[in-house]
Amino acid sequence: MIVNKLIIKNYRNFKEAEADLNDSLNIFIGENGQGKTNLMESIYIASIGRTFRLNSESELINFSENKSSLEIHLTKNNYKIKIEIQLEKNKKKQVFINGVKLDKTSEMIGILNNVIFTPDDMKIIKGSPVERRRFINIDISQIKPKYKYLLNKYKRVTTERNMLLKNYHTRCENKDIIGIWNDYLVNTGTEITLYRNEYINKLKKYSTDIYFSLTGKRERLDISYYSNIGPVTDREEVKKLFYEKIKKNFTNEVLRGVSLYGPHKDDLIIKINDKECKYFGSQGQQRSAILALKLAEIEIIREEAGEYPILLLDDVLSELDNKRKTYLIEHIKGMQTIITSTDDYELNSLTKDFNKKLFYINEGKISSILD
Ligand SMILES: Nc1ncnc2c1ncn2[C@@H]1O[C@H](COP(=O)(O)OP(=O)(O)OP(=O)(O)O)[C@@H](O)[C@H]1O
Ligand SMILES: [Mg+2]
Repeated sequence: MIVNKLIIKNYRNFKEAEADLNDSLNIFIGENGQGKTNLMESIYIASIGRTFRLNSESELINFSENKSSLEIHLTKNNYKIKIEIQLEKNKKKQVFINGVKLDKTSEMIGILNNVIFTPDDMKIIKGSPVERRRFINIDISQIKPKYKYLLNKYKRVTTERNMLLKNYHTRCENKDIIGIWNDYLVNTGTEITLYRNEYINKLKKYSTDIYFSLTGKRERLDISYYSNIGPVTDREEVKKLFYEKIKKNFTNEVLRGVSLYGPHKDDLIIKINDKECKYFGSQGQQRSAILALKLAEIEIIREEAGEYPILLLDDVLSELDNKRKTYLIEHIKGMQTIITSTDDYELNSLTKDFNKKLFYINEGKISSILD
């Protein structure tokens, strides 16, 4: 899959902008605050239908406008595909694929696969388990359409079950129906747990090798899945453990009025040389661990979708030492990549022998410099 063209209208600080992309490397240079991350975000939205930043949809529309649109032209298995996204203040976003309006945004997932790496991704290591679950959820959703459905269902189940737990002693009918909600919780929660376990095992397989090479065979990265249900094996065993947990801790759940066990409490444990990276990793080691996870993600998407995703590297090179920069640049050869940076000198010398296209971004305007 190759992204050929972007047309951006009234999106963030872009009024009208267009870019014809090269099928390998595309470098976007711009000073701070000119629109580099906004550009990355526009491609990301065409991939999964929402932003990676903490904005509401209407905040994506240019401050002085009411409507915005994004058009992404891509080639996939020799077919031309046009993804269009229309945003309008106080209205639901509309997505069109080759002119046909989608009923649900989730239907667009899987058309344009992407892996994005931004300085903000450090929160995957430094942040709370919520950040790591978010990372895992977005990744799995891109390759397993059913997963997103399960997550939404699980959220509804826990909300409903928590209500029942809160009013357990005051509403006697709750005693009759809690069993049904326990079944929903265990059944949906088990499926999510199994999807995560499978994904994390793959992530572990690829990221360990990548990190080992990245550090010149000096350091070992080890990631593992933490579930408060217990060790994850097969479906029946997970269900059995899950039922045991909620049975044993039911009084406590009623007392607290919340569901205490299940994938909403999961975490991803990231260790370097057997020490937890969050607490003992240096800044550079933490960055490298994220880089290894992102590069592993690329391999998983290639394995699942049969083609490489587009790689979005937002201003991350400056954060890596020379060896790691070179490793990253060598690693992305052959993948369609968009890199942003404030400095063209270093990027140009690192990618001397690449087939590439260079753009400048200035005050939301894109200009192509050379082919
Ligand atoms: N809805 C909006 N309408 C107009 N401008 C916006 C909107 N949302 C954000 N901006 C502006 O877009 C500008 C560019 O933001 P962006 O994050 O893309 O910069 P950048 O080039 O990535 O900068 P840096 O190098 O600092 O990361 C910012 O000044 C921001 O205020
Ligand atoms: Mg930026």
